[in-house]
Amino acid sequence: MPRTEPIKAARGVHDILPADLPLWRAAESAARETATSFGYEEIVTPLIEQAELIERIGEDTDAVSKELYRFERRGSQNLALRPEATAGVVRAYFENGLNQGPKPTRLYLIGPMFRYDKPQQGRYRQFFQFNVEAIGGASPAFDAETVELAQRWLNAVELTELRLELNSIGDEKCRPAYLEKLKAYYRPLKSKLHGECQLRLERNPLRLLDCKVPQCQPFKAKAPRITDNLCDECAEHWAAVQRLLDAASIEYRHNPYLVRGLDYYTRTVFEFYPARASGQQDALASGGRYDGLAEAEGWPSTPAVGFAGGLDRVTELMAASGREVPVSPAAEVLVVPEGELAIAAAEVARICRTARSVAVDYEPRSLAAKMRSANKVGAKWVILLSEDDASRRVARLRDMSSGEQSEVAWQELPTQLA
Ligand code: HAM
Repeated sequence: MPRTEPIKAARGVHDILPADLPLWRAAESAARETATSFGYEEIVTPLIEQAELIERIGEDTDAVSKELYRFERRGSQNLALRPEATAGVVRAYFENGLNQGPKPTRLYLIGPMFRYDKPQQGRYRQFFQFNVEAIGGASPAFDAETVELAQRWLNAVELTELRLELNSIGDEKCRPAYLEKLKAYYRPLKSKLHGECQLRLERNPLRLLDCKVPQCQPFKAKAPRITDNLCDECAEHWAAVQRLLDAASIEYRHNPYLVRGLDYYTRTVFEFYPARASGQQDALASGGRYDGLAEAEGWPSTPAVGFAGGLDRVTELMAASGREVPVSPAAEVLVVPEGELAIAAAEVARICRTARSVAVDYEPRSLAAKMRSANKVGAKWVILLSEDDASRRVARLRDMSSGEQSEVAWQELPTQLA
């Protein structure tokens, strides 16, 4: 059935066009180079996972409860598109025996994630992350290492005006008692909180602290702080992470309200923001320690820490800060045949490709129109080909910057272009 309207992209996703890609490639290469320079190896895991694995991130996590793309049941498995990579990387680490290797195993992953989020600037339903995970390391040195790696990466793409927020949210030993204190503090205020926070109060009270709704703000300042309620081990870890960051001259701000939107974190949590922006949706990179996730997935208890950077947000900020990456022309050489010379033009292109990138203008239009298009494409050379040229296996090679033109035998073209 013909439709009246052309079909557009799904809501909340976006195309990355050739003109945008140099910035994306720059951000990705910086990610790979930085991760490699810290001894991290790349891993690729599937975009689909068993829904049950994703649910282990935490039932109260928005990415699971509200934003997960689930498939209709197929065969015996419930599947979902991954909303984040950490659960899958941990699964892959154990399932493929990487846990038998060196400790920690340092892994990084670049790829798309999917969340049924409210679409807005910097918040997409398909977005790309650069994930870094150090699995099997309990030392606070790994927390500091991943923070430093995140900062190095952002600096490598010339994002230097950053604000790093840091907090500790304790562990399964000290957090329950703290949550009771938090609930006790908020219960008398319940009616003054906005609807979702009223629900959070009993279900997931930690999230009360990162609520952005104005009516909930006045109560935060007097709320008990988790960093005043840590057990000895968590307090020691928290102090050590700060000492390590100080020693690395990494500036941070303790944000006692930073709790993160995913439920698997223990102890250290951190987020990098552009220095001038505020608000959670602007985080460029965020992460923390997740010592309980492996066990929640059914594997042996294993400490781990990591972060993920948002490539969409990072490239948007790179573009907004006027970062320019030299754009090379799609093809350095454009073969411009006159009339119906597709076979000869394709052969000339084949010969020249040994030396340069080559495209052919096959469109049946005037030479003037073809030359205008060659200028737009930014080709450095144009090879003009008439029927007479083709019969003698020669062409006219034009240097587009000098305007010089000379007749060259086809076989000589690669040497002339080299
Ligand atoms: P997250 O904070 O949910 O953490 O996401 C990490 C980063 O991905 C964010 O800081 C942001 O830059 C980007 N991001 C998140 N949602 C969107 C969206 N809808 N559109 C565009 N960008 C987005 C995690 O995913 C954890 N797995 C990070 C981690 C790794 N923790 C430990 N290891």
